[in-house]
Amino acid sequence: MESGGSVANPFRAGLPASKTAGPSSIIIFGASGDLTARKLVPALYDLAVDGLLPRVAILGASRSDMSDDAFRASLLEGVAQHARHRPVDQALWSTFAASIHYQAVAYDDAASMKALAMRLMAIDQTHAMAGNHLFYLSTPPTVFGPIVRNLGVAGLATPGDGLFARVIIEKPFGVDLATAMALNREIREVLSENQIFRIDHYLGKETVQNLLVMRFANGIFEPLWNNKYVDHVQITGAEVLGVERRSAYFERAGILRDMVQNHLLQVLSLAAMEPPGSFEADAVRNEKVKVVQALRPIEANDPLGRVIRGQYASGSILGDSVPAYRDEAGVQPRSTTETFVALKLFIDNWRWAGVPFYLRSGKRLPKRVTEVAFHFKAAPHRLFKNAKDSIGMEGNVLAIRIQPDEGIALSIGAKVPAASMEIAPVSMEFRYASSFGRDAPAAYERLLLDALSGDGTLFTRGDEVEATWRFITPIHEAWAASTEDPEFYEAGTWGPRGSVDLLRQDGRSWRRP
Ligand code: BG6
Repeated sequence: MESGGSVANPFRAGLPASKTAGPSSIIIFGASGDLTARKLVPALYDLAVDGLLPRVAILGASRSDMSDDAFRASLLEGVAQHARHRPVDQALWSTFAASIHYQAVAYDDAASMKALAMRLMAIDQTHAMAGNHLFYLSTPPTVFGPIVRNLGVAGLATPGDGLFARVIIEKPFGVDLATAMALNREIREVLSENQIFRIDHYLGKETVQNLLVMRFANGIFEPLWNNKYVDHVQITGAEVLGVERRSAYFERAGILRDMVQNHLLQVLSLAAMEPPGSFEADAVRNEKVKVVQALRPIEANDPLGRVIRGQYASGSILGDSVPAYRDEAGVQPRSTTETFVALKLFIDNWRWAGVPFYLRSGKRLPKRVTEVAFHFKAAPHRLFKNAKDSIGMEGNVLAIRIQPDEGIALSIGAKVPAASMEIAPVSMEFRYASSFGRDAPAAYERLLLDALSGDGTLFTRGDEVEATWRFITPIHEAWAASTEDPEFYEAGTWGPRGSVDLLRQDGRSWRRP
């Protein structure tokens, strides 16, 4: 039930009972940044259009000075370009914008945070808000700790009776195991774990959640989901884009931190986890974290056999020449930052013993595609020995396409209609677009709604984020100790030679998604 406000909510008609939240103020730190204009506010607007948003007031905060009106104007531009529902409904936007405010803040200054707390109280009063507060940290990671500390000092971390104070923290959560542990310690001095929502936007994607639905709402897949039937699994997160204007960040991050430590390991844990006892946040996260903890460690002296590090050289994307990573603005001429990585992982548990999980992620690849593909073992006895068996190479593959062209494809061998026995691969397809005929909501819509209603299932728990860093950090340490360059690959190709060899040495090959 909505609580603490008798003001009618114009934006909430179709809210499912499980996703109710009382009137809430959303305080976005880093409000002048890209994410706010491109993702967060368009997501809130789209929720409002769909009648799913509780009554909210928004307070943007960042270092620069700006008036409320200038802030609203910049957000309107973002909504006009990035919302799902376009063109903008001007009447709805005017109502929505009236509850948007802005205040400049110095993140590491307690007095400035206290001033923000005063402003928030005033906004809560003006808009008859209950006093529920959702803070969104969309700032550089260096100020995550200081902001949380100052929220505590300003009295904003402790909610009033029956109210909530929750904090969403953007990525990257730490840059290695030590920094992630330190950040967890620092924020837990102020907040309890159930107030902390570490966001990974991949978990908000419909197709990522569908992995769970497919596995656990259907009886036919789970019996096959183990080392008896699965030969190996391929997880691909490929992008066409290069480093764009993010070289300052990317130079320090690299693709292993940017994509694998978070997004791909999240997808891996959903794909490989044991069935949870319920769909409660901790039941799900307990199972996910066990997968990451069971990853066979890549020791400092062994990484190079199982990890391929690549960097794009110049090449051509869709017919246009593109520069090498080292020639991009803001990149060191001898940079060793990886823009591609391929890994061979093992999950050392009963279900997955001996099944390799091959992961790859890269920038400047030929196609934007994210997918998980389960490659099944061949039939135990080869009956059609003389058939021209063209599925022999790939066998049965269940590919879960996370994006684009969201859906699921199962490739099987079928008889080619002819007098002779010839077998060809065919695909059984499910496509979101044609089956449901409507757009999936954006990941941020789902995640904001979940955080407002206090559901942490699709957020990363503290022990989980530490487990991922515990696995990833030794790879970075080994790279740091090496004097070798990454393997170069031509932009617009599927990565360096080493990535092909990683599978070839096992008698396998990457899918061409
Ligand atoms: C972000 C990374 O977390 O995810 C980006 O920082 C990457 O480098 C992006 O491009 C990919 O997200 P999506 O939703 O476009 O697959």
